[in-house]
Amino acid sequence: MIFRIPGILSFSELEQIRTQLAAARFVDGRLTAGWYAKQVKDNQQIPAAQAKDLQTQVKAACNRHPLFQAAVRPKQIHSLLFSRYEVGMAYGRHADNAMMGQWRSDISFTVFLNEPEDYAGGELVIEGADDEQAYKLPAGSAIFYPASTLHRVETVTQGTRFVAVGWVQSLVRDAAKRELLFDLDTVRRSLFAREGKTDEFDLLSKSVANLLRRWAE
Ligand code: NI
Repeated sequence: MIFRIPGILSFSELEQIRTQLAAARFVDGRLTAGWYAKQVKDNQQIPAAQAKDLQTQVKAACNRHPLFQAAVRPKQIHSLLFSRYEVGMAYGRHADNAMMGQWRSDISFTVFLNEPEDYAGGELVIEGADDEQAYKLPAGSAIFYPASTLHRVETVTQGTRFVAVGWVQSLVRDAAKRELLFDLDTVRRSLFAREGKTDEFDLLSKSVANLLRRWAE
């Protein structure tokens, strides 16, 4: 499931993050790429040791969002990078590493940190079974997608692209199971909003809880 969360960062958070980005020192992004991704990764990022404060802000923004909780079922947002793409930079087609240290990457995400008008090119392109989809969202918005996909970032041809990219280990590793839980939970909430705490709501709540109990790890 690919989904977006518009305005996952508030305006003031975004302002604060941008101020920090403007003062940050960026290094070659190849330093954290897997051995074959080094061939296609051409961007810059803030060294992890200097990005702690930024990471805390973005992680908190994700974790407080109900859609993130319901659709991702996060165990841990374990990796978060702040990247910059200048003119001519891109990140060619690749799949993300399955393991990052001891954590598994189930869901990848990109939080856009400047406006689409600030740069040309730089779309995040995610490949599906027989088509592909390009994403370039407003500043403060995020796109979440399965870490298992092939994806790329198109060459920036004008301006500068700033993003935060992160990886989550979910309590539920199987994407199809996560989607089932999300759908059932959505129906459950909408039933509650319409008719309150009915017998149907109770049974559905029991099912959602028991499925999560079976699948969570
Ligand atoms: Ni990637």
